[in-house]
Amino acid sequence: MQNTDGNPVLVLDSGLGGLSVLRHIQHYAPGAGCVYYGDTAFAPYGSKTTEEIRNRVLSISERLVKAYRPRALVWACNTATSAAIQEVRREFPDIPVIGTEPALKPAVEQMCMQHMKGRILVMATPVTLRETKFQNLLRQYEKTAPIDLLPAPELVRIIESCRDIQRRAEEYLLTLKPSLKGGYSLVVLGCTHFPVVKEAIRNVFGRDVRFCDGGDGVARRLIQLVPDLTREQKQEPIQFLCSSSDPENHFPEKCRMILELLAGDKNE
Ligand code: DGL
Repeated sequence: MQNTDGNPVLVLDSGLGGLSVLRHIQHYAPGAGCVYYGDTAFAPYGSKTTEEIRNRVLSISERLVKAYRPRALVWACNTATSAAIQEVRREFPDIPVIGTEPALKPAVEQMCMQHMKGRILVMATPVTLRETKFQNLLRQYEKTAPIDLLPAPELVRIIESCRDIQRRAEEYLLTLKPSLKGGYSLVVLGCTHFPVVKEAIRNVFGRDVRFCDGGDGVARRLIQLVPDLTREQKQEPIQFLCSSSDPENHFPEKCRMILELLAGDKNE
C-alpha cells in the first residue's frame, strides 16, 4: 500500500452538490486537506444511462487518483454511487472509497422512534431511484413506513445555474406536487444537491417537514476509516476544480456561494 499521509481527500460530484457533504467533512476534520472536484462537463449525471455514468465515474476517478494520490476518495453523489461504487472500490483496493446513498434507514428509524405521523418523501435523481441499490433499500423499509418517491432532476440544473435558485426550485416543485399523495413529515434528500433548496422544499411541502440527508453519515464514515484526518493541520485552502474548460464557468466562486447558502440555513 502506498503512503498517502498528508495527501488530500478527494471529494467528487457531478457539480456543486457534493459541497453539502464537504461541509460535514469540514465539521469533523476542519484541518483536513481536500480537493473538491465537480464533473461539470458531464453534469447532470441523473439523466444519463447507468453505463455512461459508470464509465465516466471510473475514468474521472482514475485520472484524479493518479494526479493526487488521495488519502480517501469520497463520491459525494448518490447517482454516481448507485451506478458505480462497487467498480470504483474494485479499481482502487488500496484507497478508502466512500459513497453516498439516500438516508432512508435513518428516516424510517426516526419515524418509528419518535412515533411520527405522516409519510416519507424520498427526493433523488431518476437514476438513483431506479437503480438496484436503492430498490433493495426501499424493499427493506417500505412495509415499516409509508414512502413516496419523487425524481426531481430539474432541481440539479437549477442549482448548477446558481441563478435565482430558491424561486425557480419552488416553482418547479409546485409543478410536481399534484402527482403526490402529500402529508409529508420527513423528506429524504437523496441527491447531494438538494440540501441547497431546503427552503423551497419547506415552502412547498410544509414549514414543519424534517430532513434526512446522507452528508453527516458520509463524513463519519470517512473519519472512521481515516481517523488521522481529525488531527491534521491543513497546509493549503480547499481547491475547487471542475472538468469544464470554460473559464466563464466561475466554479470556485460558485462553490463559495453554495457553501454560504448551505451555512445560512438556520432551521437545520
Ligand atoms: N448530486 C448528485 C447526486 O447526489 C447528482 C446530480 C446530477 O444529476 O448530476 O445524485
